[in-house]
Parts: sequence; C-alpha cells; structure tokens
Amino acid sequence: MARILTGIQSTGRPHLGNLLGAIIPAIALSKQEKNESLFFIADLHSFTAIRDAETLKENTYATAAAWLAFGFDTDKNLFYRQSDVTEVTELTWYLNCFTPFPMLANAHSFKDKSNKLSDVNTGLFTYPVLMAADILLYDAEIVPVGKDQMQHLEMTRDIAGAFNHKYPNSFVIPETKVDKRMMIIPGTDGQKMSKSYNNDIDIFLSDKKLRKKIMGIKTDSTPMEEPKDTENCNVFQLYKLLGTDNQIANLKKKYEEGNFGYGDAKKELFELICEKYKKERENFNQLMDNTDIIEKELQKGAKKARVIASEVLQRVRTNIGY
Ligand code: ADP
Ligand code: TRP
Repeated sequence: MARILTGIQSTGRPHLGNLLGAIIPAIALSKQEKNESLFFIADLHSFTAIRDAETLKENTYATAAAWLAFGFDTDKNLFYRQSDVTEVTELTWYLNCFTPFPMLANAHSFKDKSNKLSDVNTGLFTYPVLMAADILLYDAEIVPVGKDQMQHLEMTRDIAGAFNHKYPNSFVIPETKVDKRMMIIPGTDGQKMSKSYNNDIDIFLSDKKLRKKIMGIKTDSTPMEEPKDTENCNVFQLYKLLGTDNQIANLKKKYEEGNFGYGDAKKELFELICEKYKKERENFNQLMDNTDIIEKELQKGAKKARVIASEVLQRVRTNIGY
C-alpha cells in the first residue's frame, strides 16, 4: 500500500486544464487498489494572497466540489482542508528551525512571485516549509506534482533528511513523482490554460456562459469554404483531448473537406463537453447549491486526517524532547 499525498491551492474554480492535468489523473491513481490517497485543499497557502473570507470559502468549496463531482472516493481515501488540521502549523515551526535561510531565498517560486507582487509577506517566503509540513505530517510516501513544484519537494526531502539526522526516525522521506507525460492543456488563446491568463474554460458554467466562452476561442482567418489545419487550431486541439478516436477522426475529416467554419467546430466542442461531462457538471452545481454536503465531507476527512497527524506530531515532539 503506497500513501500518495497531493495538495491543491484553492485559488478559484478549477478549469479544464486543472481537471485534465491534475484532478482526473489523481482520481484515477486513487482508484488503484494498492494506493491510499490523501488529498487536501491548501487554504493556508492561499492565505498568502487571499484576504477575503467569502472568496476563501467559495474557492475551497469550488475546489472540493470539483473533486467530489469527478468521483473522488472519500471513504477509501482522505479528503480534507489544510486549515482544519492545525497540527500542520506546529510542525511548520519545528521545520522552520531546520530550514536554512538561503534555501528559501533561492526558491524559484518565491523569486518569481516577489518580483511581481506588491505584498511580499513572510508567509510567501516560508511557503515551502508549510508545504514540507503538509507532506511530512502524514508520512506520505509519494507526492505527485507538476514540474513547478519539484524544487519544493527537494526542499522537503532536504529538511526531513537534516531533521532525521539529528532526531532519527522522525520522518518518512517522500518520493517525488513528476509525470513527464503530463499534458499542458491549451487555453482559449493557445497558451497554457491558467486562471491567471484569463484564457481558461470553466466547464461548470451554465450552458449559455460555457457556449460563450467556447465561441471566444481564438482561431485564424481561414475562410469558411477552405480546408483547415487541425494541428494549429485551438478548437481542434481541445477536441482531441476529449473526444473518442471516432469523434476526432470525424471532425478531422470535416476540417480537411472545407465548407466547415470555426463556428461549427466550436459548436461541436461545446456539445462534446456538455455530453461528456453531463453528470459531473450536474454534480458540481448541486454541491455548490448545498455546500453543507461539502462541509460534511471535509469534516469527515479532517477527523480521519487528525488521527494520523497527531500521531506523527507526537513522535516528533517526543524526539525533540517536549
Ligand atoms: P492555474 O495556472 O490556473 O492557477 P494552478 O497553478 O493552481 O492552476 O494548478 C493546479 C493544478 O492544475 C496543478 O497540478 C497544475 O499542474 C495543473 N494545471 C494547471 N493548468 C494546467 C494546464 N493548462 N494543463 C495541465 N495541467 C494544468
Ligand atoms: N504548492 C502546491 C501548488 O501550488 C500546492 C501544495 C501545498 C502541495 N502543499 C502541498 C502539493 C503538498 C503537494 C504536496 O501546486
């Protein structure tokens, strides 16, 4: 049994890039018999930037609703909100005392963010230590992350190694799992889809709004009658990620035959999303209308998470001499 742990910052409603790139593959991994998955919403990390109570709550619920809507099994696995398990902040302190200042000063993500933001708070600086605590508090064995998080994982391993050297058997050293095949899902403008580029497709929108978003995908000016290039078309690239082989081949044929406009292609993409994710879109919106169901799930998860967290924390406290 491998214990897999993943966290996601609750920065807004998950988009198609988050779903295809992170959420759906993580759920598939959690379904394997031999795995136990711990998934949490990193709302303490979000507090480095979000200062509005309603937004913080709304983002947490929307992120949780997406995981639940796509069938994450909260009985087999652990599903919780970072801020509900306060043990993590205590562990962060112990780890802070084992984290060399220059290690944090060299973090790419900090350097990137501190160049762009007006509010460069210490929370942003010690962000990787809280992330190390997220992982070490649960004896996680495998942590799947995107490339951008690899340095944080290396820091976690270094901090845990240094701590274990002084206080043996305190932590399990986690393995990083970077999915090299991880797809980069393009947004409506062809760049990487991201909330921060305003090019994302939120599949949970109402039909009307979703259609509008899809109709806004950038395409070139090839006239309607002419054959079209599938490789350089944002609409086709998205369709390719979602359709069956048959559906993709059919659409390709229409592109190549001509007399098929980008508007028609967008309509097909819209219909495909509605058909493919009918159940998940309904689930999501039902959950968002009944956030008490989400809240119950998160409370259930926090209770289970606290059992592991308090055990590990006790082990560390004993080792330190408290
Ligand atoms: P955003 O860029 O919208 O803020 P995040 O950085 O919060 O997204 O990413 C959350 C998760 O979704 C990460 O695991 C990230 O690798 C994945 N992800 C985000 N955008 C994409 C994308 N365009 N293609 C594939 N995966 C993505
Ligand atoms: N920093 C991660 C991100 O921005 C989210 C995160 C927080 C995380 N704690 C974690 C990921 C622990 C994996 C393990 O994507």
